[in-house]
Amino acid sequence: MSGGDRLATSLGAAAARLARARRVVVYTGAGVSKESGISTFREPGEGIWARYDPMQLATAEAYARDPAFVWRWYMDRFGLIDQAAPNPGHHALAALERLVSLTIVTQNIDGLHQRAGSHDVIELHGSAHRYKCVGERHTGFTLADVSGSDEAPPRCPRCGDLIRPDVVWFGETLPAAALERALELASGCDVLIAVGTSGVVYPAALVPVTAHQAGAALIDVNPEPDAYADMADWFLQGPGGEVLPRLVDEVKRRRGV
Ligand code: APR
Repeated sequence: MSGGDRLATSLGAAAARLARARRVVVYTGAGVSKESGISTFREPGEGIWARYDPMQLATAEAYARDPAFVWRWYMDRFGLIDQAAPNPGHHALAALERLVSLTIVTQNIDGLHQRAGSHDVIELHGSAHRYKCVGERHTGFTLADVSGSDEAPPRCPRCGDLIRPDVVWFGETLPAAALERALELASGCDVLIAVGTSGVVYPAALVPVTAHQAGAALIDVNPEPDAYADMADWFLQGPGGEVLPRLVDEVKRRRGV
């Protein structure tokens, strides 16, 4: 059987299980946004952490050491995110939300799931569209809220502390309510789809493991084997922008829609 035949067979079986799912969780990582032109983190040679040292950029210590440098790097990265558009993978997941009871649990900060029309999205690692002061006393700012002066990084309009992106840096804890709800949904779902993640960053990476241990069927979508490929009931090998639309079309066909 060819690779394409194997994918079609697995995809059909996965769609049949998805079509009769009671409660679905979709767990996404940077790979789901790759076809929107946003780099992943760990792909050999091209991932962000293959080109930059995360300890010099994505830690509170790095920000304290050189706030202007880290701020400029994030502003460049957020500029690329603002230019990106949802791809067919994001749109397929938004369509799936209209077919089954579904929550997206994402590690991504780009907001592309929401822009594609997904409503129930849990952001485990924060957002490129939210800012807070380093003391975390004041949160929920947009960039416009804090861009009054030419200072880079800007200061909190409420307390004068430095402003920072509201994203989770290495060594920081995830937003407790978000992680708690994600793990609760994972332990109660009957199907979990993992898309575009290497599955190596904890505690977020516990979400698919929790679902699997609770007896959920696990569908893994990735062009390369990742940490979930062996434990998955179906490993659908391919880019999310191609596999997800085919998967959702198969679910629609089985649902007669
Ligand atoms: N479709 C689906 N998956 C893809 C695609 C694609 N078109 N292209 C690449 N991938 C896969 C890669 O094979 C890889 O397994 O996406 C995965 C991306 O893995 P990482 O770069 O490790 O990204 P992610 O798992 O989201 O990282 C988790 O690490 O640095 C932190 O906070 C950051 O949220 C991030 C976390």
